[in-house]
Amino acid sequence: MICDIKNTVAQELYNIIGEPEITKEEIAAALEYPPDINMGDLAFPCFRLSKIFRKSPNIIAEDIKNKLTSGNISADAQCAPLLKKCESAGGYINFTLDDKYYAENILGDVFEQGDKYGAPKIGESKTVVIDYSSPNMSKPLSVGHLRTTNIGNAIKKIHQFCGYKTVAINYIGDWGTPQGKIIAAYKLWCNNISEVEEKGVYKLLDLYLKFEKEAEEDKTLGESARLFCLKLEQGDEETVKLWKIFMAVSIEELKRIYNILGIEFDSYDGESFFEDKMPAVIRELKEKDLLKSDNGAQLVDLEEYNMPPCLIIKSDGASLYTTRDIASAIYRHKTYSFDKNIYVTDMRQSLHFAQWFKVTELMGYKWAKDCVHIPYGLMNFGGQVMKTRAGNIALLDDFLKLAVEKAESIIEEKNPGLSVDEKKEIAKKVGIGAVLFSDLVSGRVKDVNFTWEEALNFNGNSGPYVQYTYARVCSVLDKAGALDNKNILITNISEREIIKLISQFPEKVLVAEREYEPSVICRYLLDLCAAFNRFYHECSILKAESEEIKNSRLTLCEAAKYTLGNGLWLLGMEKTERV
Ligand code: ARG
Repeated sequence: MICDIKNTVAQELYNIIGEPEITKEEIAAALEYPPDINMGDLAFPCFRLSKIFRKSPNIIAEDIKNKLTSGNISADAQCAPLLKKCESAGGYINFTLDDKYYAENILGDVFEQGDKYGAPKIGESKTVVIDYSSPNMSKPLSVGHLRTTNIGNAIKKIHQFCGYKTVAINYIGDWGTPQGKIIAAYKLWCNNISEVEEKGVYKLLDLYLKFEKEAEEDKTLGESARLFCLKLEQGDEETVKLWKIFMAVSIEELKRIYNILGIEFDSYDGESFFEDKMPAVIRELKEKDLLKSDNGAQLVDLEEYNMPPCLIIKSDGASLYTTRDIASAIYRHKTYSFDKNIYVTDMRQSLHFAQWFKVTELMGYKWAKDCVHIPYGLMNFGGQVMKTRAGNIALLDDFLKLAVEKAESIIEEKNPGLSVDEKKEIAKKVGIGAVLFSDLVSGRVKDVNFTWEEALNFNGNSGPYVQYTYARVCSVLDKAGALDNKNILITNISEREIIKLISQFPEKVLVAEREYEPSVICRYLLDLCAAFNRFYHECSILKAESEEIKNSRLTLCEAAKYTLGNGLWLLGMEKTERV
């Protein structure tokens, strides 16, 4: 049974207040969780009603409370046993729910839905396309790619959980001048395919860095890069062959790192894939009379919309990143017929997306309104990343290795009794989890200051803290064996707090989906872990006062396990049952 407590309470209030003053949905949306559990489980603020009824919020709250408690509580079988107490205070009506009824309804949902608990069905039969990570080819991933990759993946998982069909697209930057540079560098200083195949993308990076350095002195290099770029565009056989090999080694290494992060893509259609789809877009823009010439360049004027013009063709005739994005969005709509088309990049590209979204709207595409740019702030590492193998580039691979190494030494210290294999396996999950969580925990548009101390603080607001709490829950359940029944007996406020938090999970998922904000899930998990750990320290579980209480506490543990597990899944983090 789906128990939506806010709706149930809203119905009661609605019966009393009624339309036209306020709708049931508005009441449900206004219901708050009081900060202190002693103030009840839900609170309804009467401040807005004060204007409508021309009375003070206090008086309104008192009136409604009196009506609710003077036999006016509906005989609605679902609600009557749910509300235990209703009080007015400071312009609010505070509701306290009946422990047993509340607990059994909420936990009933958890056990019935299991790994789907909290999953709203809002995305059924809808498709979401998500473009994230999207690095440039011939370069390995750097720590700078962490956020798009990680935030994009969490947003994909949140949508999957909500029932959407998701299409994860890695729009590799595999076209344009950088490709000319790398081919020129290869021709000059390598010319050995087996070396590239053996050393992979790291060889290409070396060549690229050498090219950039030498090009500062030798101006002819730029010309040579342009030539190779042209050859590539014209389909010159040898150039295309090299480009294909470089692409293959690039993708091989990308997939290795994505695998470490637990990430998969459905499509690797990069920029080059859209090359032959550009002329049609340009023609269409012309036909729709949207193009303006400006010193030999072609652009769409966006002055009316307070934006600089959107450049479509450069004065040398070359098409642009923007034009390619328009072509690929048209293609994506044709191919996937998306309900939402999402792009996850850092904030510096916000204007780029706003401009071309507007252009597609001006072209008359109704789906323009379904295109969403999800910007994020920068991640600063202080001196915390290694700049090794690749000049100034801090490689994501090195960073992740370091995370696992550091996690391993902490685990070794905490639990020296683990076998080497176990230690390694847990360190992998916890080390990577630490990086993922620290990236996701602050609101996405904020800059993040990464430190190992915080990321790997097993007692702090970190991924390992959540993973460890999960493992702690598992270990209690493991020791207890099978449960006799799932009856709940609340004896301590910390038990109630857990139930209250578990009941809020479905709402948190909805907020995370609506706001494209994985941090909502992170913060929720931290709260649930804190509540669980309080409960764990305050209440004996395995040695509880009676069998009945023990059983009830274990039931709570099991519900917390599902909820924590579902939350970790949304963030793309691995669970570990042992630590
Ligand atoms: N390759 C681009 C970069 O490294 C990101 C691509 C984002 N996706 C897009 N469709 N424009 O900045």
